[in-house]
Amino acid sequence: MRSLILGAAFVLSSLSPAFAGSPFPTISDPVVRAECSDCHMLYQPEMLTKQAWAKMFADLSNHFGDDATLPAETAKLALDVHLAQAADVSTHRQAKRFIKAADGKSVPMRITDTSRFAHKHERILPEVFKRKQIGLKSNCISCHLKADKGDYDFVAKNIKYIWVE
Ligand code: HEC
Ligand code: HEC
Repeated sequence: MRSLILGAAFVLSSLSPAFAGSPFPTISDPVVRAECSDCHMLYQPEMLTKQAWAKMFADLSNHFGDDATLPAETAKLALDVHLAQAADVSTHRQAKRFIKAADGKSVPMRITDTSRFAHKHERILPEVFKRKQIGLKSNCISCHLKADKGDYDFVAKNIKYIWVE
C-alpha cells in the first residue's frame, strides 16, 4: 500500500491557475511584527477568528509550550492588531475563506488545526511535514517561500511533495 502511494510521488513545479489567490494582508505595525516573529514567521491574523486570538493572548506565558509573555501595553497593541484583521472581522477575500471553513463550534488556536488548512494540505502525506527542512506543519515558510509576505501561492520547487491521490 505504502509503495503504491510513494509510487504516485511527483515533483510539483508549478501550481494550476485555479490555485492562484491574492496575498493575505500582513501586519504593518513594526513592534507587533518584531515581537510575533521572534520565534517563528509572522502569521497573518486573517487565518484565525477573533475568539481564537483572544484565547491565545489571554495566556501568552503558556504559548504552545513556550513563554511568549509581552509587556502589558505591547500585548494589548498586538491583540488589537490581530483582532482588527481577524478572519471574522477582515473583509478580505482570504479571510472570508478561512471563516467560511470554520465550523463555528471549535475554536482552533492553531492555523494548522483549521479546516481550511486541513483541506488545502490533505493530499500531502504527513511524513513530508516531518522532513528535516520542514519539521513542523507550522513552518509555512519552508514550503511557501513568500509566506511572511502573506503569499501562499508560491510553493518551493525543490520540495518533492508526495500526494495521496
Ligand atoms: C518565545 C517564542 C514565541 C513567541 C515570542 C511567539 N510565539 Fe507563537 N509559537 C511559538 C511556538 C513554540 C509555537 C508552536 C510551534 C509548533 O509546535 O507548531 C507557536 C505557535 C504559534 C501559532 C500556531 C501555529 C500553527 O500551528 O498553526 C500561532 C498562530 C502563533 N504562534 C502566533 C503568535 C503570535 C501572534 C505571537 C506574538 C504575540 C507569537 N506567536 C509569539 C513560539 C513563540
Ligand atoms: C510541506 C509544505 C507545506 C507547508 C509546511 C505548508 N504548506 Fe500550505 N500548501 C502547500 C502546497 C503544496 C499547497 C498547494 C495545495 C494544492 O494545490 O492542492 C498549499 C496550499 C496552501 C494554501 C492555499 C493557497 C490558495 O491560494 O488557495 C494556503 C492558504 C496555505 N497553503 C497556507 C499554509 C499555511 C498558513 C501554512 C503554515 C501554517 C502552510 N500552508 C504550510 C505546502 C505546504
